[in-house]
Amino acid sequence: MYSTRPVKIAGMGYYVPPNVLTNFDLEKMVETSDAWIRERTGIRERRLAGRGASTSDLATEAAMACLRDAGVTAREIDLIIVASASPDYLFPATACIVQHSIGAVNAAAFDMEIGCTGFIYALATGAQFVAAGMYRKVLVIGAECLSRLVNWSDRTTCCLFGDGAGAVLLVEGSHGEGLVAFHLGADGSGKDLLSLPAGGARMPASSETVEKGLHYIHMEGKAVFKFAVKIVDAAVTKVLEKCGKTPQDIGVLIPHQANLRIIESACERFGISRDRVVVNIDKYGNTSSASVPIAMCEALHEGRIEKGDLVVLVAFGAGLSYGAAAIIWS
Ligand code: UT7
Repeated sequence: MYSTRPVKIAGMGYYVPPNVLTNFDLEKMVETSDAWIRERTGIRERRLAGRGASTSDLATEAAMACLRDAGVTAREIDLIIVASASPDYLFPATACIVQHSIGAVNAAAFDMEIGCTGFIYALATGAQFVAAGMYRKVLVIGAECLSRLVNWSDRTTCCLFGDGAGAVLLVEGSHGEGLVAFHLGADGSGKDLLSLPAGGARMPASSETVEKGLHYIHMEGKAVFKFAVKIVDAAVTKVLEKCGKTPQDIGVLIPHQANLRIIESACERFGISRDRVVVNIDKYGNTSSASVPIAMCEALHEGRIEKGDLVVLVAFGAGLSYGAAAIIWS
């Protein structure tokens, strides 16, 4: 008979680079203001990777912190999945670079690219390997170096994004706790609303693409905003249904940190008070695939998550894509 094992999070770690770029710094770079950025997004500052650093470097730091937290050596890891919209290269996979840099010589490694929803998809994927009994220790990382892909003269996007990484270790858990439900989805009709047009096989890099700035993040913010508000509602509702819970049962909501107004709309819709939602967009901006694991780590370190709590993760982004996860904290 086909049976699956329960899966839990056995450790977590995150890393944000020390270099801070405030809204006031941005005021000197583009025509914007601290007031506009704060009021429209909730962001006050963001972290930027240092010169020469890239996504795999941030992912490596987060992975090492996670292994220390879990008390596990790199040699014990069976699989590494890196979710990123800003991988070091189109190939090789950033996960392979991390596998080498942390010395996880026994691990398989692959990347997942599904925009800001990447971590939720990677978590669901990693959990399947443990649930099926194929692997015992799976490292799931969300890591981004978006500062390299942002057009620093485009005020509509450059104030939004930041760099960082978060990692979790998945292992077998006990029935009735751990990762109890996922809901994943996509609507590819919105593929052009948030994209990095050039540099892939559809539009290879050329002097023309560089001249037109097509190697930078392109986003139609208002349309993505509308999608996000609608889909957070739908994804959370679905994942709660799948584990037989209601919004009142949510102990801690950890949403993707894209815009404070999107988060507030979700809180209002579900009747969740601000002390039950994790918000750190003010400090880090939108770190895409890294935002949920960083926020989850910080919440745990701050003592905001307790054993038995229903923790709900939700994210949305390029694709368009969306996903939610329900965890009974163990
Ligand atoms: O993580 C992936 C998913 N991403 C998201 O979820 C992002 C969703 N979208 C958003 O968060 C918001 O749409 C933004 C924060 C990107 C933009 O906020 P908005 O309230 O939708 O503003 P808008 O794009 O409608 O722009 C309003 C005005 C425009 O000026 P006009 O045309 O009214 O004269 C913009 O040019 O604000 C202007 N504007 C700015 N002004 C000062 C746009 N960016 C800036 C800026 N500083 N940085």
